[in-house]
Amino acid sequence: MVDALGVAVVGFGWMGRVHTQAYARVRHHYPRLALRPELVAVAEEVPGRAEEAADRFGFATATRDWREVAADPRVQAVSIAAPNFLHREIAVAMARAGKHIWIEKPVGLSLDDARAVARAVAEAGVQGTVGFNYRNAPAVEAARDLIAAGEIGTVTHVRVRLFSDYAAHPESALTWRYERERGGSGVLGDLASHGADLARFLLGDIASLTADTAIFLPERARPTGATAGHSRAAGGTPGPVENEDYVSCLLRFASGARGVLEACRVSVGEQNNYGFEVHGTTGAVFWDFRRMNELGVSRGTGYQDQPVSTVYVGPGHGEFGAFQPGAANAMGYDDLKVVEAYRFLRSVAEGVPHGATLPDAVRGAAVLDAMARSALSGAWVTPEVPA
Ligand SMILES: NC(=O)c1ccc[n+]([C@@H]2O[C@H](COP(=O)([O-])OP(=O)(O)OC[C@H]3O[C@@H](n4cnc5c(N)ncnc54)[C@H](O)[C@@H]3O)[C@@H](O)[C@H]2O)c1
Repeated sequence: MVDALGVAVVGFGWMGRVHTQAYARVRHHYPRLALRPELVAVAEEVPGRAEEAADRFGFATATRDWREVAADPRVQAVSIAAPNFLHREIAVAMARAGKHIWIEKPVGLSLDDARAVARAVAEAGVQGTVGFNYRNAPAVEAARDLIAAGEIGTVTHVRVRLFSDYAAHPESALTWRYERERGGSGVLGDLASHGADLARFLLGDIASLTADTAIFLPERARPTGATAGHSRAAGGTPGPVENEDYVSCLLRFASGARGVLEACRVSVGEQNNYGFEVHGTTGAVFWDFRRMNELGVSRGTGYQDQPVSTVYVGPGHGEFGAFQPGAANAMGYDDLKVVEAYRFLRSVAEGVPHGATLPDAVRGAAVLDAMARSALSGAWVTPEVPA
């Protein structure tokens, strides 16, 4: 017997749509999941957008006010896919109303916000899953397993990169993303948050770091209408970009390993160039999001001139088997969100967390907070350890 779980989505831009599609697909891939999500409500501020979502995806109710979702007894779980400045207020209210939450990264504007959400979730005894989707890639899980099994020896250093051109166009609109008040940090929260999570997922906690940031496009045009994702705005009045386009960071891990994390949102010629290279005393493992289902692996006893092989992940790796019958049949970005939905719903069904949790978000936010502090002071900084 499979129980229904009433779900709602707040914020119906890119992520709201992807979460909704993940709910719709999750039982196709996980038929043994003990819960069946039912699309009960969608809340979206832009007039007509919630109704359009309800019409297209089958939500029973559409509203412009997320508070109606918090008060709706049919809703048991909520996806929070609104802009960062709303994460804390919405998430705390939903948790206090007894709703499980699946919340997008970076979980608020600051470390303080992430902590407040984590606290509310813990106090309410609900489940909380965070949108660190890249760790759901089977190849990333395979890399972590391979590192943990000592197959590349002792890890010496890692390079994590996240380069994108989504903000490179001079006409890309001055949306909430570029404002301190509504977006918080810039590329730190947007991309480096994924990088910090990947670094921690693969190699454990970061003991100290030093970072440098820069704004390369200091002015953009204000949008002249409603925006979603990375809209363009020609002709709007110009306004200042308030947060960083770029970060570079040196990392020291608790294990003693060293790392470099670099992220940029205005890299012309780079489309989702996200990935890592982890090096150990006897080998290395490489991953590139654009070839998401492949790993470059070098292992053996050769040290010098040791070959690198391409491993196509398959049903034996992570959740790959829920999507494809054999290696080298590609999974895509949206599939990572289906894995995330599965882990969220499984957490709710079993009452124990699976996948990225709010304590992960707090630790990641502490790393971003340390990067911001270091960029101001120029010093090596220790990320705050969560209370
Ligand atoms: N995990 C990932 O790979 C990933 C990718 C992109 C964005 N994100 C995160 O997802 C969140 C949303 O990003 P996006 O790219 O979907 O942004 P978006 O701008 O496309 O969508 C945000 C939506 O929220 C709506 N909104 C604003 N105020 C609202 C309110 N008070 N009530 C209800 N809806 C409201 C906006 O109108 C918009 O439709 C952000 O926190 C972002 O960091 C995560």
